Amino acid sequence: MSERKQVKLGVMLHGPGGHMAAWRYPTAVSNASVNFKFYKQMIQTAENAKFDLIFIADGLYINEKSIPHFLNRFEPITILSSLAAVTSHIGLVGTISTSYSEPFTIARQIASLDKISDGRAGFNAVTSPLEGSALNYSKKEHPTHERRYKIANEYLEVIKGLWDSWEDDAFIRNKETGVFFNPEKMHQLDYKGEFFEIAGPLNIERSKQGQPVIFQAGSSEAGIDLAAKEADAVFTGHETIEEAREFYKKIKNKAIEYGRSPDEILVFPGISPIIGATEEEADQKYEQIANLVTIENALDYLGRFFDHFDFTQFALDEPFPDIGDIGKNNFQSITDRIKRMAKEESLTLREVALRVVSPKSSFVGTPEEIADLLQTWVEEGAADGFMIGNAVLPDGLTDFIQYILPILRERGLFRTEYEGETLRENLGLPIRENRYSLKERV
Ligand SMILES: Cc1cc2nc3c(=O)[nH]c(=O)nc-3n(C[C@H](O)[C@H](O)[C@H](O)COP(=O)(O)O)c2cc1C
Repeated sequence: MSERKQVKLGVMLHGPGGHMAAWRYPTAVSNASVNFKFYKQMIQTAENAKFDLIFIADGLYINEKSIPHFLNRFEPITILSSLAAVTSHIGLVGTISTSYSEPFTIARQIASLDKISDGRAGFNAVTSPLEGSALNYSKKEHPTHERRYKIANEYLEVIKGLWDSWEDDAFIRNKETGVFFNPEKMHQLDYKGEFFEIAGPLNIERSKQGQPVIFQAGSSEAGIDLAAKEADAVFTGHETIEEAREFYKKIKNKAIEYGRSPDEILVFPGISPIIGATEEEADQKYEQIANLVTIENALDYLGRFFDHFDFTQFALDEPFPDIGDIGKNNFQSITDRIKRMAKEESLTLREVALRVVSPKSSFVGTPEEIADLLQTWVEEGAADGFMIGNAVLPDGLTDFIQYILPILRERGLFRTEYEGETLRENLGLPIRENRYSLKERV
């Protein structure tokens, strides 16, 4: 294999696809979001193609305006656990809310997934943008954006602490002597913070990869800070290379400020390639997908980012309305970007809604054009890898495998075999030594 920097690739599996109306696409499996056979087929296809990982997104609140396949879908840890049993190399990453879960429970569940899969687990820490989530968790109110990130900081410290409860040689299991474990190798966390007081130890040991891989998704300043301090990888939504490059530099510099190597944190922009034999064919495919939504659907989709704000009260062909700070407490980085785009390009409400529901990125084109872009983004410091979003499945994934991967391989940019057995090994991430073993050695 050449010396070239390798492109890391994750594939998002979200039922029939990432587009709001994916379920209506002619080749879509309309009940895919609750169809185990479909997930099994998709992950095995991705593993045969040597993708680094699959990624399952999630949310904790729905209403009648939600994306249709969000109304009825699998919970991430449950589906990932079942997929662990039908795969052997591909990474298994799912979204977990740090605002609406207990770190002890999640530390256990993800560590269990890591053991079940022999070192292939990870999770995507999100702070949960939707206010309605509070109603499903017996909470009086949804914490503010700032508070959610403060909680998330403690949460990740706790989880990582719990994951080191047992040193790697703690369990002796000697039948003759009756010694099951070495108490000196068992460690109590005794964490006391503003939000969590957790004693530990955790009742499961570390896996072959030491600790599961932590992704973070959230691109505001607070999100960048959290990722740079605690995460192994970041999932972002930047559409242009300029924006992505700026973000990449920021996150790597911030990691250095926290005393980390920039190589210890990988940046994965989410992209949705639409591939055609010619540019015209790619454009036609894009139009076919975009035409599956009505303007009413598009307004619902746009509104969800602003905590299900009702945009139907405004004229469609007037400039995008000034709605003040609405959205700031939800998907902050995304709503900031939408407002900025509307202002800079003087867009109407209709134009914004249609662009947001069916974004036409530069990744719509011929295989060579798309492969060139992937290469440029990685070589010019805008990405370490990509989260392939797939507007529609299975076509998005099978097209990518058939048309893009051979070009990347020919250029020495993507593996033909897995380098290792664990997710960390395949991503080229260091295995964090247990903090207590490390202390003994110093
Ligand atoms: C690329 C990307 C992916 C995200 N994926 C999820 C997800 O699967 N589930 C979720 O509840 N929130 C998700 N979020 C929302 C964030 O976790 C976060 O709550 C929200 O964006 C506010 O944080 P920010 O302003 O730092 O971006 C995602 C955000 C981004 C930018």
